[in-house]
Amino acid sequence: MSNTKKPWGGRFEAPTDKLVEAFNASVDFDKRLVLEDIAGSKAHVSMLGAVGILEAFEVQQILDGLENILKEVESDVFPWRTELEDVHMNVETRLKELIGAVAGKLHTARSRNDQVALDFRLWVKKACLRMAHKLEVLREVMVSEAERNFGTIMPGYTHLQVAQPILLSHWFMAYFEMFNRDISRFYDAANRMNESPLGAGALAGTPWQIDRFATAKKLGFAAPTRNSLDSVGSRDFALEFLSATSICMATLSRISEELILYSSFEFGFVILPDSHTTGSSIMPQKKNPDVSELARGKAGRVFGDLMALLTVVKGTPLAYNKDFQEDKEPVFDAADTLEVILQLYAQMLPKCAWQTETTKLAAARGYSTATDLADYLARQGVPFRDAHEVVGKLVGSCVNTKRQLWELTASELEQAHPKLSLAALEVVTVEASVNARTSYGGTAPIRVQEAIEAARKSIQNP
Ligand code: ARG
Repeated sequence: MSNTKKPWGGRFEAPTDKLVEAFNASVDFDKRLVLEDIAGSKAHVSMLGAVGILEAFEVQQILDGLENILKEVESDVFPWRTELEDVHMNVETRLKELIGAVAGKLHTARSRNDQVALDFRLWVKKACLRMAHKLEVLREVMVSEAERNFGTIMPGYTHLQVAQPILLSHWFMAYFEMFNRDISRFYDAANRMNESPLGAGALAGTPWQIDRFATAKKLGFAAPTRNSLDSVGSRDFALEFLSATSICMATLSRISEELILYSSFEFGFVILPDSHTTGSSIMPQKKNPDVSELARGKAGRVFGDLMALLTVVKGTPLAYNKDFQEDKEPVFDAADTLEVILQLYAQMLPKCAWQTETTKLAAARGYSTATDLADYLARQGVPFRDAHEVVGKLVGSCVNTKRQLWELTASELEQAHPKLSLAALEVVTVEASVNARTSYGGTAPIRVQEAIEAARKSIQNP
């Protein structure tokens, strides 16, 4: 395409090099902003009419043209052209084809710099809300699973070494808490980016007497941004989206890692559903946790998206730089990645079959209730550090003789400490251990029940 046909072609004599044209173009990916672009243009042109910059009939012609473009987009017949560089110039050029020269008035008091800042903010804000809503579904699944599996005891780990018995429901509610914070991060981010950059012009504002408050309101923003340089020169809203997405992916990667371990033959804690696992083309016995593995792997990809944009932004002077064109693909990629994983997890978790006998047996292994015995001694007035030492020796002798704590004899116990007897062994069962942890936020069934009820209430009235 010759430069004279380009919306910015006026001062150019020679055509753009083909390779440059291809290198410069973003339409292949920024066409995803087309709905936001049309909405922004409609709000802008209506405002130009309302303040008397354009005549009412001109506004109507432009609005009708934009409406027709919307229909073309929706029915997938819009003629996208790479040589028109980006979504903005594709829409504007098409508008001219449809309604003639009056189309050229749409860009009065506007620059592609505030236009793209607007379109992208609208898109990212919507994406924040979409992620929050998908997370709300998953958060509800965590509560339902905590309810459905209530009473199941499993080992709790630190350092991936058996630590103390816990309720499986307590484990689900831990992820509930993490997803809850993810949700609030997305709402916080949406809230902070809820200001319209439209009207900032190229960078310095505009001499036209526009009404930025009107366009902000019409587009669903709380207010216009306060500084024109910041409006076109900042992408921290996209960085916040990528940060929230990355943190959420880190959480999903952790639950994935746990499910991969727990569904292995060696653990045998959970059977993943056929619908969300795959087989091997050579080993007939295999059932692989691909969804969880991919979720774990894709966390790396999303962190890469965040790192990419941080690196793009860090060296850019105010205000707009073409570098910012690189802001979109990481954001689209991270949004697409997270969204599908949130859906997959909400589908998969309710279909998992937890193997309660196996988890309970595992919870009893590894001297997981040794702390309970030390606490028992400490309750008899023995300083906890001394009690720890006494029980540590008992554990050592059980390890050497390949026995469990509840197999200790009365004389062994009394020899270990005069305040120990067979009665002390009541505290070393997994049930007693779990039941005893009644501190606020602990794993005792009554506390977990309360946590579930509180969660249900907070979900109902956020
Ligand atoms: N495609 C560009 C972007 O994504 C739109 C803004 C271009 N502005 C400019 N002055 N070249 O950033």
